Amino acid sequence: MTFEYTENMPHDDDDASDASSDVTELEEYDFPDHFFERDGRLFHSHGSLPYPLPVDGPEQARLNNLHRILRDTVEFHYLGPVTEVLSDVRNRQKRVLDLCTGTGRWPMDMARLFPRVKIYGVDIVPIATRRPLPHVQFEIHDITERFRWNNGAMDFIHARNIDLAVTDYPELLREVARLLRPGGLFFSGEIGRYIDFAHGSSFDLARQAPHARSFFQVVNRSLELRHLVPIADRIPSFIQQSHQFTVPTIQTFHIPIGDWHLNPVMKRVGKMYLAALKDFAESLKPMLREAEMTQHEIDTLVSGFIEDIEHVPGLVGVYHTAWARKV
Ligand SMILES: C[S@@+](CC[C@H](N)C(=O)[O-])C[C@H]1O[C@@H](n2cnc3c(N)ncnc32)[C@H](O)[C@@H]1O
Repeated sequence: MTFEYTENMPHDDDDASDASSDVTELEEYDFPDHFFERDGRLFHSHGSLPYPLPVDGPEQARLNNLHRILRDTVEFHYLGPVTEVLSDVRNRQKRVLDLCTGTGRWPMDMARLFPRVKIYGVDIVPIATRRPLPHVQFEIHDITERFRWNNGAMDFIHARNIDLAVTDYPELLREVARLLRPGGLFFSGEIGRYIDFAHGSSFDLARQAPHARSFFQVVNRSLELRHLVPIADRIPSFIQQSHQFTVPTIQTFHIPIGDWHLNPVMKRVGKMYLAALKDFAESLKPMLREAEMTQHEIDTLVSGFIEDIEHVPGLVGVYHTAWARKV
């Protein structure tokens, strides 16, 4: 079966690319080039890259759920002056790039909202839909490498939940700034690698949800061995220090964990996020095994985490967002 996918190769009909190769179609027998199996899970096979999570069916379902969770938390598919940036006034093809696109839900939803805009999604594995809309293009690309597009080719670059893919965010921002036209928009959204209480500091995580707290401590230590330090709340300062963007607009959102929220939409979000966090813990097990924890230690850590997030009311995840325009 043929994938409607390109591998670092353009087949767009615009002049935005500095590469000149033909389309490469990915056949099923190419799959070993992209995936390998371990502990009954499927991972990317780009050995040098730090991304620690599987990319298989259960993980794809988690990404799709997260997409809905974040859309309902933010109350839309984007923040910032997206409509203005993508309007047709300059009479040129508008282009959006989604970094680490995963299953490609965000580009597909954006494509329905902006039928005249060309939307690209890049990832190291071909897990996006095989049947994108005609103005959506998914490509295999490692975001730590130079992109194929010319300077200023992009109007909007979207980077959501990419913190497990990037060890040098300032370096990535340099490439983002190169790709964006002046006035183009960059958006970052990252869920912090911690949990908190919705109602502030009078609640003590160490006392009330100690297992959830130590779960994130252990996970963060293990991720740091891969040079994946927590960056969710540091991205605005990376943006500012690059001197390539306007002052970022920052917003943080609480994502409820469990069904304690009174608002019916957020109650539903909370139930979904609880399930997504359990799946996240499951997906991290192979990495923890690699970090030389025993199976018993891992199971105890994860079951304590689940016990806390299932039973302690008022817990939230924190979604950090920032957007800025290229100067
Ligand atoms: C947590 S998922 C986020 C997916 C998507 N951005 C979303 O919000 O639904 C991270 C994605 O990054 C991809 N990835 C990891 N390292 C990458 C790299 N160096 N270049 C491109 N994609 C990468 C993974 O394959 C995975 O699909």
